[in-house]
Amino acid sequence: DAPQDLAGRHVLISAGGTREALDPVRFLGNRSSGKQGYALARTAAARGARVTLVAANTALAAPAGVDVVPVSSTAELREALLAAAPEADAVVMAAAVADFRPAAYATGKIKKKDDAEPEPLALVRNPDILAELSAHRARAGQLVVGFAAETDDVLAHGRAKLARKGCDLLVVNEVGETKTFGAESSEAVVLGADGSETPVPYGPKEGLAHTVWDLVAARLG
Ligand code: C5P
Repeated sequence: DAPQDLAGRHVLISAGGTREALDPVRFLGNRSSGKQGYALARTAAARGARVTLVAANTALAAPAGVDVVPVSSTAELREALLAAAPEADAVVMAAAVADFRPAAYATGKIKKKDDAEPEPLALVRNPDILAELSAHRARAGQLVVGFAAETDDVLAHGRAKLARKGCDLLVVNEVGETKTFGAESSEAVVLGADGSETPVPYGPKEGLAHTVWDLVAARLG
């Protein structure tokens, strides 16, 4: 049975991938399944935590005893997280958040015009929720954990990202077209702002989730 080292703690987790609507029927999205975020939610609950899971476009069953808040866009994800953050001892951003969104939303379906070339798609930046949560801690001593999917130079990019985002821990995954996204297993290294480096061998996402909670529980004291 899992240790009850998160008893009395409230953890806030984001999962899945955001979608940015172009018109009523189309969106820009990503391949995140939400499996890692759900594994984090299940394992935190098993270790005694109260869990709020903000789920962006996932098709997974809500884990028992977990409070699930469904969202779709990055703006909705941000609202839900900022609303729940003041109660959380730890925030784990496992969701894949769209960096950009369409500059405009068409209220009617965008039509193709006969023979005409398509219009270029104008994009604007989305807010960086992880950086915002890290810079303005909603609660004293709150721990903020991010995820990073990298395809090359994983450690160097991970360290730079940890510093840029200002979070306490960054889980760095190596990704490819089939690696990690939607898969049952992953391999990662968890970097700490304190300089720590915790390798997590290839295995089920539950194992990585437990490693994250080990590191969080140790830091919450
Ligand atoms: O910058 P990058 O997208 O690689 O960072 C990944 C981490 O930052 C993830 O934890 C993701 O949830 C978070 N993120 C965010 N807001 C964004 C982009 C990413 O919170 N706009």
